[in-house]
Amino acid sequence: MVSTITVIGTGYLGATHAACMAELGFEVLGLDIVPEKVAALSAGRVPMYEPGLDELLAKHVAGLEGSTGRLRFTTSWEEAAAFGDVHFVCVNTPQQRDGTAADMSHVDAAVDALAPHLTRPTLVVGKSTVPVGSADRLAERLAALAPAGDQAELAWNPEFLREGFAVGDTLHPDRLVVGVRSERAESMLREVYATPIGQGVPLVVTDFPTAELVKTAANSFLATKISFINAMAEICESAGADVVQLSKALSHDERIGGKFLNSGLGFGGGCLPKDIRAFMARADELGTGRTLSFLREVDSINMRRRSRTVELAREQCGGSFLGRRVAVFGAAFKPNSDDIRDSPALNVAAQILLQGAQVTVYDPKAMDNARKAFPGLSYASSALEAAQGAHVILHLTEWQEFREIDPEVLGSMVDEKCVIDGRNTLDRARWEAADWSYRALGRPSAATAERVAVVS
Ligand code: UDX
Repeated sequence: MVSTITVIGTGYLGATHAACMAELGFEVLGLDIVPEKVAALSAGRVPMYEPGLDELLAKHVAGLEGSTGRLRFTTSWEEAAAFGDVHFVCVNTPQQRDGTAADMSHVDAAVDALAPHLTRPTLVVGKSTVPVGSADRLAERLAALAPAGDQAELAWNPEFLREGFAVGDTLHPDRLVVGVRSERAESMLREVYATPIGQGVPLVVTDFPTAELVKTAANSFLATKISFINAMAEICESAGADVVQLSKALSHDERIGGKFLNSGLGFGGGCLPKDIRAFMARADELGTGRTLSFLREVDSINMRRRSRTVELAREQCGGSFLGRRVAVFGAAFKPNSDDIRDSPALNVAAQILLQGAQVTVYDPKAMDNARKAFPGLSYASSALEAAQGAHVILHLTEWQEFREIDPEVLGSMVDEKCVIDGRNTLDRARWEAADWSYRALGRPSAATAERVAVVS
């Protein structure tokens, strides 16, 4: 029976997975090689902004008043190996510094450190996003290094959670995918997911490479959908059409659907950009590089959104940024997150700074991370403060807080009432009624009438 679980790596994925496993009733030990992270988590502090995670830690971390005590953290591989019936590997696979392929060094290091301590039959479950073929390789490595030999088995169980919704996505997944080589591995994972997590959720049991590919294919599809609508935005801009109305009209077709069809500044973050690049690199290695050449276009359409936003801002500043003040609303790569990895908003802010403007950024949660990574930008403690004396406002991360701003009030603080809506989520009519010049990629400069009626 599976009753104890270890989770290796306590970033977004691992910390959330550990807390959710404790919530389901398992005894959980989280391992991280960074002692500060272990100390923070052991004190119930979440090292990043992830809604709902702090409540789960408070509920389960051992030693906290009133907790179930089911969740602990350690830096010891020996302790982790001895503790878990099942070990989930949740370390990250960033883009390599000198290339596009995935950096597997953290996953490899985790298996190398854990395996020599695995003396009893156990299951090691990979959750990280890896190039197809990695699980086959890691299974051999595990069996070779573990004293338990091939009784230390591997399974692959990709994770599809989104930052900002990590707890909800973990506890209520759309589907569960498990890549296994034996009935024993399958039945152990079925046991883990026989908890409320798996109730009514499709469970796809497959081989290693298919399980690995489901994750990469899903992220590639999502990235392609976003770049598709952003390509349509480029066409709209040349043809005088409105991409927001186009997107809405497309979404009424159930085969297309409206999700991931929001045009704007494009995708960023720690997953989509690096995952499509790593997928292309892996396809090259497999000799099928041409098959994924469309992803190169997906990537370049996405990167063009950033330069086009800079261009539009420069036009609004009269052709040059010199001596101009630009207010940037948003720094996180998306709302409800403090993650600034490959943030389109900060990339645009940094480009504008380099071109001579004074750029002031405000974000509800990502200020500390942004300050550390981009010390040359100025930072304000509110959107209104950032907007003081601005010649143009750039709305680049669609936090709810920005939708609630009263354009009348903001209008009295700026030098020029000009806003660029990089996410197409501000209420255009309201801003225009307050005398703002509203601009957005893929939309005509004056609002076109939008009439949606149901014919009865
Ligand atoms: C993504 C996948 O959604 C998730 O399943 C996977 O496990 C990890 O990668 P995440 O990176 O947290 O999750 O963010 P997501 O919500 O998918 O957004 C990715 C980016 O796409 C963001 O920058 C977002 O602003 C952008 N986006 C999303 C758009 O530009 N348009 C859309 O319509 C949707």
